[in-house]
Amino acid sequence: MDQATGVAEQQDFGAIYGVDRWGDEHFCVLPNGDLALKNPLVPDAPPTSLPEILGDLDQRGVHVPMLLRVTGYLEHEIRKINTCFQEAIERSGYRNEYRGVFPIKVNQQAQVVDRIVEYGREFNYGLEAGSKPELVIALAHPLAKDALVVCNGVKDAEFIRLATLSRKLGFNTVIVLESPLETDTVIEVCKELDVEPILGVRVKLTQKISGNWSESSGDRSTFGMNTDQLVAVIDKLRENNLLHCLKLQHSHLGSQVPDVNDVRRAVNEACRYFTEMTSEGVPLTHLDLGGGLGVDYTGEKRASENSINYTVAEYAANIVEMVGYAMDEAGVDHPVLVTESGRAIVATSSMLIFNVLEATLYDSATAPAAEPDDHHMMTDLVAVSDYLKPERLQECWNDATFYRDELRALFRRGYIGLRQMARAERVYMHLMNRIRAHAASLEDEYELSQQLEKFADIYHCNFSLFQSLPDVWAIDQVHPIMPLQMLDQAPDRRAVLADITCDSDGKVDRFILADGESPSIPVHTLPEKTPYYMGVFFVGAYQETLGDLHNLFGDTNVATIQLRADGGFDLLHEQEGDTIAEVLSYVEYDPSHCVAAFRKLVDNSISAGSLRSADRKTLLRAYRDSIEGYTYYE
Ligand SMILES: Cc1ncc(COP(=O)(O)O)c(C=O)c1O
Repeated sequence: MDQATGVAEQQDFGAIYGVDRWGDEHFCVLPNGDLALKNPLVPDAPPTSLPEILGDLDQRGVHVPMLLRVTGYLEHEIRKINTCFQEAIERSGYRNEYRGVFPIKVNQQAQVVDRIVEYGREFNYGLEAGSKPELVIALAHPLAKDALVVCNGVKDAEFIRLATLSRKLGFNTVIVLESPLETDTVIEVCKELDVEPILGVRVKLTQKISGNWSESSGDRSTFGMNTDQLVAVIDKLRENNLLHCLKLQHSHLGSQVPDVNDVRRAVNEACRYFTEMTSEGVPLTHLDLGGGLGVDYTGEKRASENSINYTVAEYAANIVEMVGYAMDEAGVDHPVLVTESGRAIVATSSMLIFNVLEATLYDSATAPAAEPDDHHMMTDLVAVSDYLKPERLQECWNDATFYRDELRALFRRGYIGLRQMARAERVYMHLMNRIRAHAASLEDEYELSQQLEKFADIYHCNFSLFQSLPDVWAIDQVHPIMPLQMLDQAPDRRAVLADITCDSDGKVDRFILADGESPSIPVHTLPEKTPYYMGVFFVGAYQETLGDLHNLFGDTNVATIQLRADGGFDLLHEQEGDTIAEVLSYVEYDPSHCVAAFRKLVDNSISAGSLRSADRKTLLRAYRDSIEGYTYYE
């Protein structure tokens, strides 16, 4: 056990971060201590060192902070979900097929959606659009002939018109009716156009799921119809001679469903609606179960907010089995199975990588001695060291904290000076360091050891939580986080990670480690000559577009890479992060006006004699360099 950090000594220090649990498919630690990317599509391929990839990208001019996308990880997940459903269908003798769609809202970036369409073509994989802009994206893609375009969300006549007309181009576009009012608009548009729509109906399930997104399930969820509304819509479609177009039942199970038995229960309820609607004469052929397939962010493999107690294969097998049984029992043909899994398809394919800029250490290797003129509180504080023993840890902590707080009060009132106060803080930190080391080695001091974690260092990192990890800020989402190098050495410090926004919320202080949740993460003393990179993993779902411009930190650089079978990589695409001029334009400034206004100020200062003419060029260049530059620390 390392005394300072409480971390067990082991050869592969990556295991401290649980990488072998959450990242076994994608990552491994190399003997030189680098975190490396495995190639799940070519299991024999040598893993590729992440720090080496970053070094290479840096030479090509692609710098951190950066979002790194690995196309193979995306392809792997698309293959996985499709083959899991195919295998479950074959195994259980299910008499229809799986036709998944990717919900564009989970990651709308062109580089991601284009590749999903490309990799999914052989599986007739389609797209889900939850808004007009997303439908516009979907219809700009050459989907496979039998792939679906499922339109969810609130729809106006324009949305419905485009969706209906797209049928003329061969798209299998399904308009999912979300409400009775929307049904009226659909009926009107259908009368106006000479095209038969494919309709779906969104049925709200009463079954609630557990987890972070529990509110998106159950009868108080905001989307979809209750049973009464459903019956009204069926009658309305029948009256208007459109019931024969109603082919799909949509019942969204939720998001990040932690417990597979929740999936079974919800699917069972969805099937009841399906068979009942069928017996009402609705010619349903497709059952769409929406999202819900979770990601094991912590690798714990249990039903908790950031983990799941099932695999993709189990998820698929349970759905296929439940639907098969329910339909057989009711004597209804097996429907085409549709899911709208988003998170599970894209989360693993992106990682946020940033460098640590500097550290505020909550520690002092040495304790200054008391000086003759010191206040007696200072002498008492220094004296704590004399009785600091394993059996008196709590007492020493109490005493040291009391004396330090008294000294702070004396400083505020002007009774002690700056230098004495600085020495007091150092003595206190030194004492805390020693107490922490003792507590970490004593099993019965676990509580104390946990409390002392608040003395973790602050590692100041080159990223914006609000821009790149909005769910960490908004809903306490936990992502795997770890250093990318030096994993052959025991981490010797613990830290929280602060971002570079001027906001005290801009920090990560909740980590999942191999031995559970922790408010700090083990890190290494920052190397002097080389960068120290940290990675935040599984950030491909929802984070990119939900992020905001707090403090005007814009999009980071994005590099899309493909791992080669020989262990190398190809840079497929680079998207430069926002410049300052770009973020200024998002908040209604015209960057050229800013330059002109600054130039005017400079010229006015020269005219007034407060600035030398010779300084004009330097000032204007500094302003221009900034406005054209990256918003992050360069
Ligand atoms: C209708 C619908 N489909 C699909 C999804 C994607 O869910 P997930 O990312 O959990 O797969 C969502 C997200 O909540 C949704 O609302």
